[in-house]
Amino acid sequence: MEGLKTKLKSLAAQYAEEVVNVRRHLHANPELSNQEYKTSEYIADILKDLNIPFKAGVFKTGIVALIEGKKPDKNVVALRADMDALPIKEKSEKNYCSKNDGIMHACGHDVHMASLIGTLKILNELKDEFEGTVKIIFQPAEEKSPGGAKFMIQEGALENPEPSVIFGQHVYPELDAGKIGMKPGKYMASTDEIELVIKGKGGHAAMPYALIDPVVIGSQIIVSLQQLVSRKSHFNTPTVLSFGQFIADGTYNVIPDEVRIKGTFRTFDEEWRAKALEMIENMSKSIAKGAGAECEVVIGHGYPYLVNDDEITAKAFANAVEFLGEENVVKLDLRATGEDFAYFAQAIPACFYRLGVRNIEKGINAHLHTPGFDVDESSLETGMGLMAWLALKELAQK
Ligand code: NI
Repeated sequence: MEGLKTKLKSLAAQYAEEVVNVRRHLHANPELSNQEYKTSEYIADILKDLNIPFKAGVFKTGIVALIEGKKPDKNVVALRADMDALPIKEKSEKNYCSKNDGIMHACGHDVHMASLIGTLKILNELKDEFEGTVKIIFQPAEEKSPGGAKFMIQEGALENPEPSVIFGQHVYPELDAGKIGMKPGKYMASTDEIELVIKGKGGHAAMPYALIDPVVIGSQIIVSLQQLVSRKSHFNTPTVLSFGQFIADGTYNVIPDEVRIKGTFRTFDEEWRAKALEMIENMSKSIAKGAGAECEVVIGHGYPYLVNDDEITAKAFANAVEFLGEENVVKLDLRATGEDFAYFAQAIPACFYRLGVRNIEKGINAHLHTPGFDVDESSLETGMGLMAWLALKELAQK
């Protein structure tokens, strides 16, 4: 495999400039979730130019392409990139700054797509040299629940042929460009949205005895619900409950009729998740009822938690070390952010890893989902080469 490694690295270096331009085009032309039409057409044109067979419209703008090596039925490995951008106004002087006002690739999905295009170019070039098939998945709407992954799977993205493994990568501004990070097992959290509406009786703040004060009741509910985290969640199952909105639109001397509260519940166990959501509803309602008020509870179910297959991820870690060197492959911690790649990981063994994009010397270290987010574009060469390597190593095993 030493020869293959050298070949992959030189192909990645050869395609780097072209792939940077692909990334810049995608970055300058971002589209929101479920509206990735031009993005989808742009990818389809690249696939046509390369004579790679593909199916467009696999859930709206989704694309599934196949690169068949020799003995294409022998084994199938899938690779996935997400396509959508965020409703954020970009702040950048760069010539590839977003041309679509108020829309920005602030989560690096432009990098995921460009890197995957680099990977498919490499694999297409080498298709006479490997056995099996690589299935390439471009997925819309990761940023907006219910997401695109679930629907692409429903529309057959993982059938005909059926992959035995799927890989996905995500940019990671906490890690330097040139490095990648992985974690076997549970990696990212389930995410649910919670909205509480407490209906009391407002009036003059000087006469609370004549009112049912939803502000005090709402405050009490928020504090009481933290018992779920401190008293009810098992210490093996990290749990986050955060409330970021509390609207009590009265004033100095006015208590409002109602209070609206919004928050998020995140954890790493489906049974506990279901139980906790039920407890949130019951506690909120009974605290409000005890105080003479009413509480409406609306729960928006988000993505499940994401599990990386232990065996696949251990192998991928070792393969990444072989490709990038030990110093460039790091172990990651649990993260309480969510990702709809979790649906792929529920369906087949999966490995979702992080691509370092930080460069402190160049001042590239802004967080994801911020107006100044950018990447060190040398990460594209790392990303496309590594993903091709992981796919070929996996195919070569059977
Ligand atoms: Ni993202």
